[in-house]
Amino acid sequence: MSRIAYVNGRYLRHAEAAVHIEDRGYQFSDGVYEVCGLRGGFFMDEALHLERLERSLNELRIAMPRPLAALRHILREVVRLNRISDGLVYLQVTRGVAPRDHPFPASQVSPALVVTAKRLNEARIAAAVKKGVAVTTMPDIRWARRDIKSISLLPNILAKQAAREAGAYEAWLVDPEGFVTEGSSTNAWIVDKAGRLVTRPASHDILNGITRRVLLEAAKVEGIEVVERAFTPDEARSAREAFISASSAIIIPVVRIDGAPVGNAEPGLLTLRLREAYGRVGRLT
Ligand code: PDD
Repeated sequence: MSRIAYVNGRYLRHAEAAVHIEDRGYQFSDGVYEVCGLRGGFFMDEALHLERLERSLNELRIAMPRPLAALRHILREVVRLNRISDGLVYLQVTRGVAPRDHPFPASQVSPALVVTAKRLNEARIAAAVKKGVAVTTMPDIRWARRDIKSISLLPNILAKQAAREAGAYEAWLVDPEGFVTEGSSTNAWIVDKAGRLVTRPASHDILNGITRRVLLEAAKVEGIEVVERAFTPDEARSAREAFISASSAIIIPVVRIDGAPVGNAEPGLLTLRLREAYGRVGRLT
């Protein structure tokens, strides 16, 4: 069955789905995106993703491409046409198509919207959750507004590639003061020696992950103590547990940091408990 993508008002076969060469996303990375998980045919925390989309767009002064209800409809159509019940939906909005020029185009240029969906490799995720993964640390060379879910991901992909070439699954990015900001496409967490959950507070320094937000809620429900503060790679290496979070896999345990084992180099108990708790707190629509 061929995959179907939504592109600016039309549902097209993937192979034929294309955007204009002067789309500002293509030329300037002038746009934002969202990735929302699908479980059993339901969207995971869709309202929070759409809320963050609106926020990212506002920060860049790009208009919402469609009213919320229409967006929700398009997301469902793409999922239905691709017959996916467990996977990911990708939504991208750019400032639109205009002759290449740095300033914003005239206000009548409407934003461009693309939506795709894909199945997840569940077996690969399950294996990563069971075994845990390695991360490597490297300098965070991104811009100062990482809270905006921008499609400009060059430093992120370079970091991810460097991690993969070093035999690690994810890169943990480190700010000039020596603190971990987040992963190249995930938020970073540790469980400290006192059993508290530690993650960097939301600010312009990190993307405030939807999974991160729901996990903070889940921790509260579970009575797990949380401290929102930055931590160093050294502290992470000597932590009891560590993990990464993102919509794509919720939680993946981290068992090695820069080659050094975290705890006994096995997925942590609190990590796995929190992963389960997510299922009770996350909202399906
Ligand atoms: N990445 N931090 C960064 C830099 C991210 O790119 C992501 C998500 C996260 C986690 O956010 P959330 O919990 O809302 O998925 C944190 C997505 C999945 C991606 O780029 O594919």
